[in-house]
Amino acid sequence: MCGIFGMIGSGAVDKTLSALKRLEYRGYDSAGIAVKNGGCINIYKQAGMVGQLRKSVPADIVGESVIGHTRWATHGEVSQANAHPFISQHKQFAVVHNGIIENHLSLKYRLQSCGAEFTSQTDSEVVAHLLEANFSGDTLAAVTSTAKQLEGSFAVVVTTAHNGNLYAIKRKSPLVVGVSGNEVYFCSDIRCLSQYAVKVAQMPDDTVAVSAPSGSVAFYDFDGNPVSVKFFTVDAAEDFADFDGDYMLKEILEIPEKIRQAKKGYFADGGLNLTAKVVHRIKRIYLIGCGTAYNSGLEAAALAREMLNIDVLPVIASEFIYDRYPVDNTTLAFLISQSGETADTIRAAERVAETGGFTYAVTNTSTSTLRYACNKFKNICADGEFAVASTKAYNCQLITLTLLLADIAYLKGSIDENVHNKIIDSVDSLSAAIESTLADSYQIARLADEIKDSSAVFFLGRTRDYPTAAEGSLKLKEISYIHSEAYPAGELKHGTLALMEKGVTVVAIATDSALIDKMSSSIAEVVTRGARVICVSPYGFSNATVVKIPVVNRFMFGALSVVPLQLLAYYVAKRLNRNVDKPRNLAKSVTVE
Ligand code: AGP
Repeated sequence: MCGIFGMIGSGAVDKTLSALKRLEYRGYDSAGIAVKNGGCINIYKQAGMVGQLRKSVPADIVGESVIGHTRWATHGEVSQANAHPFISQHKQFAVVHNGIIENHLSLKYRLQSCGAEFTSQTDSEVVAHLLEANFSGDTLAAVTSTAKQLEGSFAVVVTTAHNGNLYAIKRKSPLVVGVSGNEVYFCSDIRCLSQYAVKVAQMPDDTVAVSAPSGSVAFYDFDGNPVSVKFFTVDAAEDFADFDGDYMLKEILEIPEKIRQAKKGYFADGGLNLTAKVVHRIKRIYLIGCGTAYNSGLEAAALAREMLNIDVLPVIASEFIYDRYPVDNTTLAFLISQSGETADTIRAAERVAETGGFTYAVTNTSTSTLRYACNKFKNICADGEFAVASTKAYNCQLITLTLLLADIAYLKGSIDENVHNKIIDSVDSLSAAIESTLADSYQIARLADEIKDSSAVFFLGRTRDYPTAAEGSLKLKEISYIHSEAYPAGELKHGTLALMEKGVTVVAIATDSALIDKMSSSIAEVVTRGARVICVSPYGFSNATVVKIPVVNRFMFGALSVVPLQLLAYYVAKRLNRNVDKPRNLAKSVTVE
């Protein structure tokens, strides 16, 4: 996933660089801008983050229009040559692109046979050369014919040397247009526009936009026919206050409030929003996602087994697409995605829909590709999550899924009104329990000092605590780079015990009082082999360092017991001087399969 931005208006260079800084959560291995001034386009680009790029751009540069890009490499190594923007051979067109041009090689060979000289290993560069090859005086015609020749997913913003317009092309990858007076903006994420634009519009798929220095914007389909697009006033979307600290810690500390917001938001737009008739037809539920989103589905499925008498199956999206999971008109699939832009999850939604299933998006934004690909949609109301490692979104996904599944269980009669109301009411006490856990974060910081040099960290849990172990392990490895795995505790003795030795840390999660003895024996097995054990639990364990959490409703433990693990990952990574908000080799959302 990459971040793209373009604008016509005053202070364009500085505004573009500021917007790119805010888009860095989408990718940050290289960055660049193209500044159009008079009849020429100047390119400034390099490997590294936006802050380094800003230092290389002359302070006195003024541009009528500027386009910019911050990259997460998919095709071509991280280098200055592979950084966007790309300019066509005769310097007439410069482009920034987010997505994948799937037919870039065939286009590249054809263009090279006509004399085009490429300077990068990327797929995106082909767009600049194709525009120039298609240009014979009518720029809009060149843009629409180029759009028709591209295959794959693409959000492209184009500046030209021969007029003052900006052009954009959109298919599958997100692209938002913003206007304010005679200024026009294009951006990958609506939240990066809220400080500039007064009105915004989500560009529909298979459209081209043309914006002029007057502030006008017109939209066309790929055949050049005018298309009308509705603008709406940009709400008070979470602005990017230039926060100096770590977004990850800020977002962990926001969890109690965001969980209250998730519950409020759930009921504010009607709750489940499925008729009893549709609910009674459901015989199978899938919970589909990737990474942290998948882990929230894994946990929600464990909770559903205590509420519903039908199959509720968590499935990794990239597996669902290519495996033969049964789907028919009695199937309901929840597609879980913080960004709503993860390619595997979007593709999984399309597969469910193609085979007669009902799709329900659970996302953290109200304008996303996934939302429009599904029959129904629910916003988890976590507000902007900018640290690449997802934290508050996990807790809010879990609460939203729990409320959705509890409504289904109640409508199906598998839980009574009393249990149903208890689940809903227990969300409020959950927030209070998380606040008290966060108050003990100094204890977690101390533990981080003790385990930061572990050779490996294993996370263990049984039944509903295993998904929490999986999320804790993902959080630790993705920002500290320490090897980590998660196991159902009982599985350890079937092979992985071989890895237990001095220097290994084990983090056990034990929230079920009925399984205390089982967890004690799992802990004893690893302690005798030299491992150091931390246990997140409301209960005591003599051979482990216990991080105490309050007792909450059994359906709420998952959203609570993960919080010490989120903090532990954060503090360990800080002790190791990692970039906690932008860790290596990671993207906030992977918009390519
Ligand atoms: C989160 O910590 C991870 N960086 C990543 O696994 C993420 O959860 C996954 O890519 C799914 O993203 P989504 O929720 O936006 O679809």
